[in-house]
Amino acid sequence: MNHRQNIVLIPAAGSGSRFGAAKPKQYIEINGKTVLQHTVDIFERQPQIARIAVIVSPDCAAEFARFQTASAKTQIFAVGGDTRAQTVKNGVDTLLAQGLAQPDDNILVHDAARCCLPPEALQRLLATAADRPEGGILAVPVADTLKRGQSGAIAATVDRSGLWQAQTPQLFRAALLQQALSVSDLNGITDEASAVEKLGVRPLLVAGDIRNLKLTLPQDEYLVRLLLNAAEQVV
Ligand code: CTP
Ligand code: MG
Repeated sequence: MNHRQNIVLIPAAGSGSRFGAAKPKQYIEINGKTVLQHTVDIFERQPQIARIAVIVSPDCAAEFARFQTASAKTQIFAVGGDTRAQTVKNGVDTLLAQGLAQPDDNILVHDAARCCLPPEALQRLLATAADRPEGGILAVPVADTLKRGQSGAIAATVDRSGLWQAQTPQLFRAALLQQALSVSDLNGITDEASAVEKLGVRPLLVAGDIRNLKLTLPQDEYLVRLLLNAAEQVV
């Protein structure tokens, strides 16, 4: 019998510099809830998710205080680091050290800023990758023609065949993720899969969803609002 648990780890320790609000973007309110709360609630509603670990910055105590009363399923850890990879590494190390995750459990790393993840995309990832040792990520095939730019002009058209845009969640066994992130130089590691790939493992590509966008620039807020409104109509 398989007792492997699915644990969501949400890195939420970024500063949101590109979004440029007065506070980090995961703490701005949309439709009466913070972006981070919207993200947490997606996983709260899924019975296949056993635990949710939110990793926040030790500098943002005031913003995350409201989560202290969150459900028993969700816990906050103020061990965020200077980079996303460092935040995830600190979170994985903490979960394993405290016995909250077993080495064989699945950890699904999901950006706090991806607050519109459709539940069916999450289900596809679990159905495809939860029992696979190499893990997997949500991703979408690149739809637009790609140009390499140089000084504001086109230097070349890049062949887009075989190219995918990585999304989250990214699902890996806890032990594999910890090993992948235990390298001395985390610089340049922008997602978990790239760290795992460096070990020679080839994680699965699972069909994501364009609605699973990441709140990055101010102009993204309009779309995120529309998507959250649409999702609330069907819940
Ligand atoms: N993140 C984190 N710790 C960091 C940097 C980022 O936990 N040191 C988290 C962010 O909070 C976010 C996710 O990683 O949920 C994706 O990162 P990104 O969209 O780049 O967020 P920020 O780094 O906050 O934004 P920016 O790069 O514009 O400063
Ligand atoms: Mg960033």
